[in-house]
Amino acid sequence: MSKPAIRHHVCAAEELKLQGRRIATVKGQEIGIFVVGDRYYAWRNMCPHGGAPVCEGVVCGTRLPSLVYEYEYGKEREILRCPWHGWEFDLLTGMHLVDESVKLREYRVEEEDGELYLIM
Ligand code: FES
Repeated sequence: MSKPAIRHHVCAAEELKLQGRRIATVKGQEIGIFVVGDRYYAWRNMCPHGGAPVCEGVVCGTRLPSLVYEYEYGKEREILRCPWHGWEFDLLTGMHLVDESVKLREYRVEEEDGELYLIM
């Protein structure tokens, strides 16, 4: 039987909106909490490629699929780029942009009364 999930306070939602991200340690796990638009996302701070602290990477956009000789850039501030080898992950889904079998581990984050909590 698994233990019931517990809420762990992270920070004020306004604080996260100002900073863009927060890395919290809960139950010995480093977790990166991000805000994109008005939604919150939480990912394990470990890259599935080589174990880098992926949540410390650059938040940016990326090249979108386009025709030959065309360059289309998009998803600004929705992409997390690993600081070690540059693998790119969709901040909204945790999916690697090229290899659909690779995904960041997700955690639940909730807002209540202006405060953010990880549920785990
Ligand atoms: S460790 Fe993240 S891309 Fe290699």
